[in-house]
Order: sequence, then structure tokens, then C-alpha cells
Amino acid sequence: MRALITGGAGFIGSHLGDALLARGDSVIALDNLATGRHDNIREHLADPRFEFVLGSIVNADLVDDLVARADVVFHLAAAVGVKLIVERPLESLVTNIRGSEILLEKAHKYGRKVLITSTSEIYGKSLELPMHEDSDRLLGSPLVGRWSYSTSKAVDEILAHAYWKAKGLPTVIVRLFNTVGPRQSPDYGMVLPRFVDAALEGRDLKVHGDGTQSRCFGHVRDVVPALLALMESREAEGLAVNIGSQEEITILGLAKLVIERSGSSSKVQLIPYQDVYVGGFEDMPRRVPDINRARKLIGFEPVTTLAEIVDSMIDDARRRLLAPHGVLIPQQDTVWTAVVEAPEMYSRRAGPWRVPEFGLDMEAARQIAVNTWMSGRVASNQLLAAPLRWTTIDYRTIEESGVRASLSWVIERGGVGHGIVSGLDRTIAPGLLLSNAPDRNSNPSLVYEPLFFPWTEPVPLAPGDHVSEKLSATLVRGNYVWCWKTHVRCGTTGAEKAAFTQSTFLSAPVSLQALRTQARDYVPALSENGHITLLVLTLMARRLPVGEIATQVLGTYPQRFTCVEDALAFVRDITRLHG
Ligand SMILES: NC(=O)c1ccc[n+]([C@@H]2O[C@H](COP(=O)([O-])OP(=O)(O)OC[C@H]3O[C@@H](n4cnc5c(N)ncnc54)[C@H](O)[C@@H]3O)[C@@H](O)[C@H]2O)c1
Repeated sequence: MRALITGGAGFIGSHLGDALLARGDSVIALDNLATGRHDNIREHLADPRFEFVLGSIVNADLVDDLVARADVVFHLAAAVGVKLIVERPLESLVTNIRGSEILLEKAHKYGRKVLITSTSEIYGKSLELPMHEDSDRLLGSPLVGRWSYSTSKAVDEILAHAYWKAKGLPTVIVRLFNTVGPRQSPDYGMVLPRFVDAALEGRDLKVHGDGTQSRCFGHVRDVVPALLALMESREAEGLAVNIGSQEEITILGLAKLVIERSGSSSKVQLIPYQDVYVGGFEDMPRRVPDINRARKLIGFEPVTTLAEIVDSMIDDARRRLLAPHGVLIPQQDTVWTAVVEAPEMYSRRAGPWRVPEFGLDMEAARQIAVNTWMSGRVASNQLLAAPLRWTTIDYRTIEESGVRASLSWVIERGGVGHGIVSGLDRTIAPGLLLSNAPDRNSNPSLVYEPLFFPWTEPVPLAPGDHVSEKLSATLVRGNYVWCWKTHVRCGTTGAEKAAFTQSTFLSAPVSLQALRTQARDYVPALSENGHITLLVLTLMARRLPVGEIATQVLGTYPQRFTCVEDALAFVRDITRLHG
């Protein structure tokens, strides 16, 4: 099948193109790159099944030619979002209304099925929640620019419906609620990519109004399969269908989530609507879709959580913000260290060796285990004294490869000391900060986990006890040898409570599991990834194209992959390694 995607270089259009190509279809992507990006489709340009046409949907002759060559049409091209249409009303209305009119006219001429993407803005300021496809619309004056996006999309819907009803053209209308994901541009006012870029660049996250307005955000990887399924559904013809997530979050909550997940030091700034839009702005307090129709028609169920959505966009933005071929190296690290009570992490490292295995006394191996560091999270209530600054490393001026320092704490909270934990405040670029420091007030699980240096034995600590630590890291043949010398004195009597000298020099990376795999009678089992890899290799041996392999992999392991693109990424990795 060959599909025409108008707006095919846009955010959703390009993901739709990926999915169609992955399942073996051909794609013509028409786009004038008004808000779309060449980068979004770059990887397909050499694919003979992919054709990019730079042009506008208001060019009737061009559209005539492309519709004639396609089997179906996904109509996504539009001036997108309220901001754009308020700023450039005439041009935007022509794109949205005239463009759709031309497209439907040509689809009718050649008898091609059309799916058009409409928007939750259709419902205007309706307070009826959740918003059902047959709900009334509630709009302000047509002279207020804010409502014209909704009106332009309503005209598209009316046209598509009329072509279906009066002329029998199969059309499906999809009302998209906030759809987000990698490749979405922050340049046109879309809230989540705007927040993500601000957080990564260390700027304030500007929340319009008081931030209590809430929205639901759906991931594009949940939305694209729904578009494909709706195009194939006979029952969806002549209908409007809501597609979106029902997981609600306030915009203020979203800003905080982005800051938390990115580990940014950015702050939230509330901006009154009148300072953003000339003449003020009417925003909807809530917007939640009723998705029962989509559930019934195509079994639609969004599965990507908000945290996963935000993570995927942070990941995408990090790559986008990096200069071509750039490598992200930090400018400065300030390392913070704290004494911690971490029984679970400690027993994972030091515990197993107290139980005999292979008929051996494993106690000696325990000495190796407690001389290795591990990465792990600690909560702020696990700190027995406030973190101290160990060192600051400025990578722009650094000359010494090793670092050493002496630290001493007076224990503030009684408990059992299991070791020390070290995390850092990192400056990636001016104003771009992240932190996994063991801070009382922040969540240290943010970016990556801090390092835990276990003590030889746990030490009961009382408030007032003194813990001193001599820490060093010395570079030996490309690897750091860590040394930590601990001395604990009683706060009241001054008596020594414990003294340990530990070093990674005394250890080798070791785990009981790794040791078991060395035994002759060890029977290795394939992990799920192993099974999938085996399937991919078998299909490669049968010389199937990667798109076909990905489809089969997705069909066999539907719980492992969210969509065919996801499976395709896995397949590509395997083919790169073994192809
Ligand atoms: N992303 C969302 O949250 C959301 C929500 C509701 C509806 N929608 C709808 O989904 C569709 C895709 O939106 P998106 O989020 O991918 O935005 P997008 O801006 O990335 O995609 C729109 C694409 O249309 C192209 N385009 C604009 N004018 C054109 C013209 N005259 N001729 C050819 N191409 C033109 C743009 O260059 C862009 O590539 C739009 O119809 C939009 O109204 C999106």
C-alpha cells in the first residue's frame, strides 16, 4: 500500500511514516516545512519506498498528482496550535480550511480513503468532562483569535463528514488530545517540549496563569498505531473519534515533573496570561477525553506513563540540543559525601558471602565484596549527618588526575552506619546543572545513582559520634583505584569504635551470580532478550527485510515492544551487530 501523509515531515506525521515503512508500506510525505523538519525524515530519504515532496497542500495541481498516486491519505498538514493561529491568522486559516477542502476534493475525485486529524480544541471551553465525541461545543466570539483554530478544524470536520454523507467518500476524523513525544518542536508554544528545553538549558519554566489548569498527554507511540487502526476500520468511517490519554496533570505539576526527571536546577515562573497573549487569553481548566469509542472500535488503550513520556522527551532534547557529532562532557563536578544507614544495599553487597556455597567458607570473598563500591540510591532520611563537600573538579583547568581529601562528620541522628555515599552537583554547560548529591531535600534518584562505599562492618552510631574519612581516587592505567579509610570515635568518651582501611585495590569485580556461572554444571538460560535476538537472527537467515522482521517480532512479543518502531529499533541494533 502507498500512503500519502500531508504534514509528513511534522512531529506526528514523521512517526506515522516510520510506522508505515516499518510494516512494509510506501509513503509519500508532502510538507512545506512550515513547522516540520527535514531532520524528522532524514533517515528515510534514501529509502526507495519513501518519497518526500516539498510543497503545500493549497497547491491543487500538486495535491491532485499525489492523491492520484496514493492508495490512502492521512491528512495531518495544518497550522498547528492556538499560538500559531493567533499570531498568523490569515495564513493559518487558509492552510487549515482551503488545504483540507482541496485534499478532500481530490480524494473524492480518485476515491481515496482519508483520515483527517482534528483536535480537542473542537470542544472549546466546554465543561462537560470527559469530553465525548457527541458533546456540545462551547466557543467564544469568532472575532477572538483564540477560537479560530477550533473553528478552522471544525470546518475540516464538517467538510470530511459532508463528503462521507453526501458523496460516500470514506473519511475518518480523529480528534487528537495533547500528543507529545520525541521530535516535537518547542518553537510553536507546545508546552512539554518548551518545558524540557528550558529545564535542560537551565532557564525558568514559564507556566501561564496559576498552573492549576490540567491536561492529559498522550505519547505519539500510542497515538500512531491508533491512526493506523482507524484508517483500517470500516466502522470508524463517517465518525469522529477521540484519541488521547486520560492521565491528568496540572501544568504546574508537569513543570515540576520535568525539573525532577531532568535533574535540572531550573525554577518555575508563573506568568499572567495577559503578558503572554495580547489582550489576555481564555484557557480551559481541564480537558479529558472520553475514549470509549476508540476502545470499542480499535481496542485503543494508551500505555505510556507520564514519567516515561517526559523521560523520552528529555532524551530526545539532549540529543537535539547537542551540536552535530558533539559529545556531552561536564565542565565541573562538586562531589558531596555523607555517612549513611543503608541496610538493604549493604546486605546485597556483603550479605551473601556469609552463607556457604560450593562447600566453601565464603567469608574470605566477603573481604573482596566490601572493597568494591556500587551505585545505589539513598533517601534523605538515610543520612546520619549532613553531606560534606569532598572536592570540586573543574574539567577545563584540571591537571591532576587523582583526588584526595579528609572529611569528618559529627553524627546528627543515631542509627547503624553502613558506609558513605558520594554524589555530585554537575555543571554540564553554563546554567545547565544536574545533581545526584546525597541531599536532604532533593531526590537523589534523579539522574543516575550516586556511589556507595560500604564499610567492612556496620557500625552502630550515636548522635555526637565522630566519623572521619580519608578518601582518595588515584588513576592507575586508565582505572581509578579508590581508597577509603574510616575512623569512628565515641562522642562522649572519645574511645575508638571502629577503624577500617579499604581499597578497590583489594577487590576484583565479583558477584556470587558471576561466580556461579563459572561452574562446569552451570546451565545458561536464554533471557527474553536472548529469545528475541534468536528470532531476529533466524529471520535474518531467511533474508527477510527488517520491516517484516520487526512486525513478526512485535507479533511474537507484544508485551515487550510498544509499537513496531520500538521493535524496529531493536532489530536494527541486532542487524548492525550481526548483519
Ligand atoms: N500534537 C498535538 O498535540 C495535536 C493535537 C491536536 C491535533 N493535532 C493535529 O495533528 C496534526 C499534526 O500535528 P503535529 O503535532 O505533528 O504538528 P506539526 O507542526 O509537527 O505538523 C504539521 C505539519 O504540517 C506541515 N504543514 C503546515 N502547513 C502546510 C502546508 N500548507 N502544506 C504542507 N504542509 C504543511 C508542517 O510543516 C508540519 O510538518 C495537525 O493536523 C494538528 O492539528 C496535533
